[in-house]
Amino acid sequence: MSTPAGPGTTDVTGRVDLADPELMRDPFGGYSRMREQAPMALGSLPGSATPIWLVTRYDDVKTVLGDPRFANSPASVPGMDVRSVREKELRARGVPPEYARYVLDGMLETDGADHLRLRRLVSRAFTARRVADLRPRVEEIAEDLLDRLGATAEDGVVDLLEHFAYPLPITVICELVGIPEADRPRWRGWGRALVTMDPGGFGTALRELVAHIEELIGRRRAAPADDLLSGLIRAHDEDGDRLGDTEMVTLVLTLVFAGHETTAHLIGNGTAALLAHPDQFDLLRRRPELMPLAVHELMRWCGPVQGTRMRYATEDLEIGGMPVRRGEAVMAVLVGANHDPRVFDDPGRLDITREPDGRRETHVGFGHGLHYCLGAALARQEAELAFGALLRRFPGLTLAVDPADLERQLMPASWRLARLPVRL
Ligand code: HEM
Repeated sequence: MSTPAGPGTTDVTGRVDLADPELMRDPFGGYSRMREQAPMALGSLPGSATPIWLVTRYDDVKTVLGDPRFANSPASVPGMDVRSVREKELRARGVPPEYARYVLDGMLETDGADHLRLRRLVSRAFTARRVADLRPRVEEIAEDLLDRLGATAEDGVVDLLEHFAYPLPITVICELVGIPEADRPRWRGWGRALVTMDPGGFGTALRELVAHIEELIGRRRAAPADDLLSGLIRAHDEDGDRLGDTEMVTLVLTLVFAGHETTAHLIGNGTAALLAHPDQFDLLRRRPELMPLAVHELMRWCGPVQGTRMRYATEDLEIGGMPVRRGEAVMAVLVGANHDPRVFDDPGRLDITREPDGRRETHVGFGHGLHYCLGAALARQEAELAFGALLRRFPGLTLAVDPADLERQLMPASWRLARLPVRL
């Protein structure tokens, strides 16, 4: 994998197309140029006419994510009907109006008391202590997957994304939430349809998912188990006005998708980065105690989420010296912040001994502020255990292709591999 900053051709002076193939192929170079030349650039997403301010400097990113004058829900903007614009965009993607609420009313789309209430209902399952309790089970899943890896190799080559990085987090989050094993492969297909935002597949996938989760809730209500879904059903049935039907479905949907796709790509990107930097790979193998720092650095260097959900200005204000008007949309470009030379020395260098500057977490790969990633402790633990097990079991692991030839899934504001072919 070539290092993040490099020459490229993305024009950062006009309106930036977030789906520009050049920008998606080299987001590190593209967003770095934006940060230096136009730290508040205007961009847009495919299929949407809404202009989005792209904020790329570290300090501005933290301001946007920490400032209560920015809302996650367009409904929080006084006097503006931004929501109907979002509903129209969803209709264009094949989402019927009665399903829009499953997209627009999730935890990441709510503010204030609504957000806090939803977050409280599930946050207990993701505390450091609960995550530590899961450790032996995560280790067991990782070891089982690695046991089977040799048998999947063809001519000595295995796709580590397909056979390790994906199944590990999806198994962990599905066990935690309570998605039966037999149903899990279908979630993979729905996940693909939802993230690619393909107009043909999005609406259908969403309708099928909602029906599936409702059916699952019915099954769990009849036969409760020791999982998060049963806990949500209890909260709903005992105190129904605090957790509505839609909210319950949306929570399950959010947790399963937020909990596996991202973590899978951190494991994928991180493994590829270590293999492309044999000195760092060897250092980590010799000094496994560096693992927490290494995961911190890999999140900064090649985190899978490169931009947050949109935020909406609830009043006229100024960011990075630029006026932002009430109702306008802003995206915090995490990759811009994580490679900002004002905060990180030589940001393009991968250095697993890089200290987080006295603060617990310097990078913003998990976001910042009230919507800071709920699953960060779980994701970190999964990545630490995944890299640890890989290094221990396969100390001679190498990439089967040149790092520059690694195939990527090109998606706006995301950094994802399509495959990770390795030799064990
Ligand atoms: C929020 C990244 C793993 C659940 C976020 C945000 C980011 C993020 C950047 C904030 C988005 C924004 O402010 O617009 C990641 C990355 C992960 C990861 C990079 C893996 C490496 C997980 C896991 C879970 C999870 C394992 C498990 C449940 C959530 C939830 C939110 C969230 C529920 C919304 C929180 C809120 O709105 O209060 N994540 N995440 N994430 N993440 Fe993660």
